[in-house]
Amino acid sequence: MSDILLDVQHLSHVFKLSKHLRLNAVDDVSFQMKKGEIFGLVGESGSGKSTVARCIMNIYQPTAGKILYNDINVCDRREFQKHHKMLEERRQIIFQDSTSSLNQRMKVADIIAEPMHIHRIKPPRGRLRAEAEFQLSYVGLDASYLDKYPAELSGGQRQRVAIARALSMEPELLVADEPIASLDVSIQAQIINLFKHCNKEHGFSILFIAHDLSMVEYLCDRVGVMYHGKLVEVAPTAELFSNPQHPYTQALLSAIPIPDPIVERNRKRMDFDEMTFEREGALTEVAPDHFVLRKEDRQ
Ligand SMILES: Nc1ncnc2c1ncn2[C@@H]1O[C@H](COP(=O)(O)OP(=O)(O)OP(=O)(O)O)[C@@H](O)[C@H]1O
Ligand SMILES: [Mg+2]
Repeated sequence: MSDILLDVQHLSHVFKLSKHLRLNAVDDVSFQMKKGEIFGLVGESGSGKSTVARCIMNIYQPTAGKILYNDINVCDRREFQKHHKMLEERRQIIFQDSTSSLNQRMKVADIIAEPMHIHRIKPPRGRLRAEAEFQLSYVGLDASYLDKYPAELSGGQRQRVAIARALSMEPELLVADEPIASLDVSIQAQIINLFKHCNKEHGFSILFIAHDLSMVEYLCDRVGVMYHGKLVEVAPTAELFSNPQHPYTQALLSAIPIPDPIVERNRKRMDFDEMTFEREGALTEVAPDHFVLRKEDRQ
């Protein structure tokens, strides 16, 4: 059996904004995730990260390209229908903004237990409510939250409920779209360590989308960098951070704040000039497992 869990091939997604206006939100993006891997997707706002996530989760139907999940082409309607139940069970997403993803009329206990209930999964702790309480404690919320409605929670608490709900299914693939952006720093660290634990102990593969590069460096095995809908660089995390090749990646990494004020004051920041961006080309291997978007004639 192949060790590739997710194979994104030449994925493109175009939004039709009006009769004449189109937006290439994702443009010919290809990458793979191995089983048990944590893959980070970074890039500035609007670069297409969430659109990639939504295509992977069958929320958007891609304009072009295909996505194989365990060799199943999830973009093919018939294949998707055939494996629908398995795909719903094994893939979970945490949305960037969980407020809209939680049913406002359900209590927290029912929100967390709902996927287990739908898929008739026997809760390891016997009862669904006990399981919900257990999952909630993992994200730092006590049992007093079980009977609250989403409207009674803060944004960060709602996000943690969404995380507990996704983790309760013990997914094979967790797509986490900026899952911690709305959380306090101490809770952020707790959630990141929880993801690490789920990966190590339970084998979850995680697609982790983030702005915070220090979190990505700490958590991810490999990282992909997006810019204006293109994947411009992919490499193992240590390699990407020590040897960035694409000018956009170099600019992105040079903007990470350094805790030492003297070093921070004297460091050189790099800018990336949008006008110099070359969309054409292909991902070219520049070092083992390290790919950069380049025009073929530059090889
Ligand atoms: N439903 C939609 N309809 C039209 N355009 C959209 C839609 N969703 C996203 N876009 C546009 O597609 C592009 C990519 O958006 P996307 O949300 O994927 O970016 P992102 O990298 O996730 O950004 P952020 O870091 O701010 O979350 C943006 O230009 C955005 O305005
Ligand atoms: Mg997004």
